[in-house]
Amino acid sequence: MPSATPSSPPRIVLGVAGGIAAYKAVDLLRRLRALDYHVAPILTPDATRFVGTVTFSALASEPARTSLYGDAVTPIPHTYLAQHCDLIVVAPATAHLIARYAHGLADDLLCATLLATRAPVVLCPAMHTEMWEQPSVQENLATLRRRGVLVLGPVAGALAGGDEGAGRMVEPEEIVHAVKAVLGGDRGPLSGRHVLVSAGGTREAIDPVRVIANRSSGRQGYAIATVAARLGARVTLVTTLERALALDVTRAVDVVRVESAEELLDAMTAHQREADVVIMAAAVADFRVVASEHKLKRSQGVPTLQLEPTPDVLAALVGARVAGQVVVGFAAETTDVETHAREKLVKKDVDLLVVNDVSAPGVGFEHETNEVLILGRDGEGERVSLRSKEGVAEVILARVASLLTQGAP
Ligand code: CTP
Repeated sequence: MPSATPSSPPRIVLGVAGGIAAYKAVDLLRRLRALDYHVAPILTPDATRFVGTVTFSALASEPARTSLYGDAVTPIPHTYLAQHCDLIVVAPATAHLIARYAHGLADDLLCATLLATRAPVVLCPAMHTEMWEQPSVQENLATLRRRGVLVLGPVAGALAGGDEGAGRMVEPEEIVHAVKAVLGGDRGPLSGRHVLVSAGGTREAIDPVRVIANRSSGRQGYAIATVAARLGARVTLVTTLERALALDVTRAVDVVRVESAEELLDAMTAHQREADVVIMAAAVADFRVVASEHKLKRSQGVPTLQLEPTPDVLAALVGARVAGQVVVGFAAETTDVETHAREKLVKKDVDLLVVNDVSAPGVGFEHETNEVLILGRDGEGERVSLRSKEGVAEVILARVASLLTQGAP
């Protein structure tokens, strides 16, 4: 329930759990207040062993709270805070806090407020690498992401006790970027826009244990999601990758996990209506196997796999295009690249076609870098020389932003 009015600043609940990164939450609070956000801190009992409520109360818009049980002014603090905020940020979010939130436990004020709110939630995990890599932690986060929680970081770097590795909380500056993006306060060229992007390669079942996959790493789609969020967009990333954080999506991005072309089609069409921009960066299988219900046994001899076509996701999205929506397709080519790409641009009826010559060195699948040709409806081609996939994403999204201001078809 957004509670800011034009005359009142957005209200943020800043949750602080019990980890050493709690000291950085003081800096985060100071930065949020400098932007005039109304900030109400909640410290878990363990957080108070690292930092004191006095510090938070002195810097915040209202006194820091630690107890589920209120006072005469605010008798039920968790419902009050949950209903009167536009965003909850938890920094740091410990493994324990993440587990309690994922499992719906409400044994302290922070968890009860997280359960009681309908506002967006941003979690900034911080813990030792061994804890971060535990399947239990990753599964809890996957559950929360599926429910729409945004997870920022962690990043690799120095950890408590002189250790190094993944698990360091993202810096307060980065968290502020995300907060601004979620609250729509970022003035980037895509601010106020919703970008829907697909990434990765689809996997089609042969039987309950085997799949047909492809070599897409998902990096270009993730780079587009990251840069779009940095430019102020709200982003939905539909991905086939199991571990979203294997790639750097540290900003305000909603992640939806899919596996097959059919699931990708369902997820993309479900989100298409509210999107200003649709970008099909995923490598979609063109054929799938007529799958066997039971595992194919070696003793039955070499099977003959019967193939059937998958849905053409891009064609479905173009067919259901909303007025003013910019649709971007990708093309992977190995021969006569430009000729095939120009034919594809017309056939696919997209606003922009991003063409990879996947046979060139350092380009396309499984590489950190990319080199593309961007074709527009007017037939104008733009060659983007070899650079990082984020660098390529910046050029694509600059073209998208300019199409949006011109008013796409
Ligand atoms: N695409 C899709 N659904 C499919 C196949 C492809 O949405 N079943 C999308 C891709 O995400 C990409 C674009 O279509 O944005 C072009 O993909 P590409 O494989 O280059 O083209 P195809 O139409 O499959 O043509 P071909 O493989 O014959 O070159």
